[in-house]
Amino acid sequence: MLRVAVLGAGRIGRIHAANAAANRQAKLVAIADPFGSAAEDLARELGGAASTDPEAVLARADVDAVVIGTPTDTHVALMLAAVRAGKAVLCEKPIDLDIAKADAAVAEVERLDGRVMLAFNRRFDPASQELRRAIDAGEIGEVRQVIISSRDPAPPPRAYLEHSGGIFRDMTIHDFDMARFLLGEEPVEVMATASRLIDPNLAEIGDFDTVMVNLRTESRRQCHINCCRAAVYGYDQRFEVFGSAGMLMNDNLRPTTVRRWSSAVTDAREPLLNFFLERYADAYRTEFEMFRAAVEAGAPMPVTARDGRQALRLADCALESALTGRAVRV
Ligand SMILES: NC(=O)c1ccc[n+]([C@@H]2O[C@H](COP(=O)([O-])OP(=O)(O)OC[C@H]3O[C@@H](n4cnc5c(N)ncnc54)[C@H](O)[C@@H]3O)[C@@H](O)[C@H]2O)c1
Repeated sequence: MLRVAVLGAGRIGRIHAANAAANRQAKLVAIADPFGSAAEDLARELGGAASTDPEAVLARADVDAVVIGTPTDTHVALMLAAVRAGKAVLCEKPIDLDIAKADAAVAEVERLDGRVMLAFNRRFDPASQELRRAIDAGEIGEVRQVIISSRDPAPPPRAYLEHSGGIFRDMTIHDFDMARFLLGEEPVEVMATASRLIDPNLAEIGDFDTVMVNLRTESRRQCHINCCRAAVYGYDQRFEVFGSAGMLMNDNLRPTTVRRWSSAVTDAREPLLNFFLERYADAYRTEFEMFRAAVEAGAPMPVTARDGRQALRLADCALESALTGRAVRV
């Protein structure tokens, strides 16, 4: 029975807390959030003790593992404090917005032999797991090209964007991780273009809303990422892996599989599952279970702090490429 504390009772913390509470081999022991009644409200709903003091929760002897669902600029400090307190850690993405800070954190986690998993949930979606399994089974031969389309239904509020680190570090970071996951090889070169097609005012904060990235690996495999902050038809999440012996594709998810025909449309389907909490509900559940199982077995973490650092590095390279118009060596 893994005894779990969740830090941060916001959007993502609520998901992790619910998954910990529902997991039969885990126990939600505590929820910490320094602001308002967030921790108390969530603990009332799911069980566990509520606290406004994350440090006190980290010091609890009856906590084996900590899920960090707090704002990005708090991840590294909480991760290192948890590791030093002997806790296993499931930490939200991105690891940090600053590569030097991320490098130092990874070095410290590795020096302390810390048990840290980065929460790149998309790897744990059933479709992603099947893509990886099929690639490993040799179903499409040698991977040659990966195409990732990743579009949100609508942009987040300006206040969020101001602290997000920009589209590459905040949003495309998931796609950089999926590119590494599906290519099975580190990208060595990044080319990107970035536009403000939704909100020209993003120039005031140096951000963009519509980006394309090309990645190349040492063996010259390629990955293309399309990423946009808004798609009128909903949360668009598709992957295509093309190889020497075939191709794999997944599709977007809808509430049901019903298709409709009329005088106006043929083959019409319901709108896509609207956003990440619905689309990746299974993935978050599996992610928590993989974390729990790895901690219990003393097995390697399925996604490491170093994976978090690698995705951040690709995000930094993409931004540099978009700003300079040049290919950037990773
Ligand atoms: N993997 C995903 O799909 C996914 C989705 C959303 C957010 N995220 C990441 O999760 C993190 C949180 O995002 P969110 O959307 O849930 O934000 P949020 O603002 O909804 O929630 C964050 C919560 O953390 C609390 N908090 C702040 N400082 C804290 C501290 N020191 N200790 C404990 N709690 C603290 C805040 O009061 C707030 O309730 C971000 O890093 C974000 O990038 C990941």
